[in-house]
Amino acid sequence: MIELSSQQGSANGRVALVTGAARGIGLGIAAWLISEGWQVVLTDLDRARGAKVVEVMGESACFIAMDVSDEKQVAQGVAQVLGQFGRLDALVCNAAVADPRNITLESLDLAYWNRVLAVNLSGPMLLAKHCAPYLRAHGGAIVNLASTRAGQSEPDTEAYAASKGGLLALTHALAISLGPEIRVNAVSPGWIDARDPAARRAQPLSDLDHAQHPAGRVGTVEDVAAMVAWLLSKNAGFVTGQEFVVDGGMTKKMIYQE
Ligand SMILES: NC(=O)c1ccc[n+]([C@@H]2O[C@H](COP(=O)([O-])OP(=O)(O)OC[C@H]3O[C@@H](n4cnc5c(N)ncnc54)[C@H](O)[C@@H]3O)[C@@H](O)[C@H]2O)c1
Repeated sequence: MIELSSQQGSANGRVALVTGAARGIGLGIAAWLISEGWQVVLTDLDRARGAKVVEVMGESACFIAMDVSDEKQVAQGVAQVLGQFGRLDALVCNAAVADPRNITLESLDLAYWNRVLAVNLSGPMLLAKHCAPYLRAHGGAIVNLASTRAGQSEPDTEAYAASKGGLLALTHALAISLGPEIRVNAVSPGWIDARDPAARRAQPLSDLDHAQHPAGRVGTVEDVAAMVAWLLSKNAGFVTGQEFVVDGGMTKKMIYQE
């Protein structure tokens, strides 16, 4: 007989730090983890919005303002988490300059390129560096939010694509360096409707938006959050260094035109 020992929903006060959690997918991940019993530290550049969202999330949530590209702020933020909770079990690197913003190569400004790489790639490295000593103590886990754009592109999105491709490489490098104590994985979302409910109501997606997906619909923040939560759980104990694509099957579609 197989012995089933699901750990789902049994976070029991373990502590997770989620970056870029004031809105969108990061906020969805934070809410999902809280529903599973985690204590969640939401961090974001947007101080006003971060403080506002934790107000309605209850005592399992708190907010720390942090620019993930600034090592001093990252170090201070992580120290604050340890001071407050005395432990850290999970890190979710979600913060990003998340708009692929189409800019032709000829007009791609080096300062913009550097900013995208600093936030989307250096940020997760800095977070991992400062969290690793604490994650190691409790057999912790890291999940990095990459993108299907790490593996495929539309024109004029070099900075974002390169940052997410680099993040996949950083993910497997960290998994090898930090194992066996710390597991490190990446989730690559496809099209996720991460807008606020009001924006979704004001400008609903079309039938075509949904129908083009093999899964029949555009993704939700919960689709991503469920995968992140599983990767952080003990049920994923044999999984590290991997990329998990959450895109409703879009990247498996043949797209040659007749
Ligand atoms: N929504 C999608 O369709 C989609 C698709 C693929 C990948 N992703 C990835 O998922 C993650 C979340 O995407 P989203 O759509 O929720 O984005 P979003 O823009 O709605 O939210 C990103 C959050 O990160 C914060 N942030 C930006 N720069 C920061 C910095 N330097 N320090 C700290 N916080 C910072 C922002 O203030 C914002 O709250 C990103 O990594 C994004 O690249 C999203």
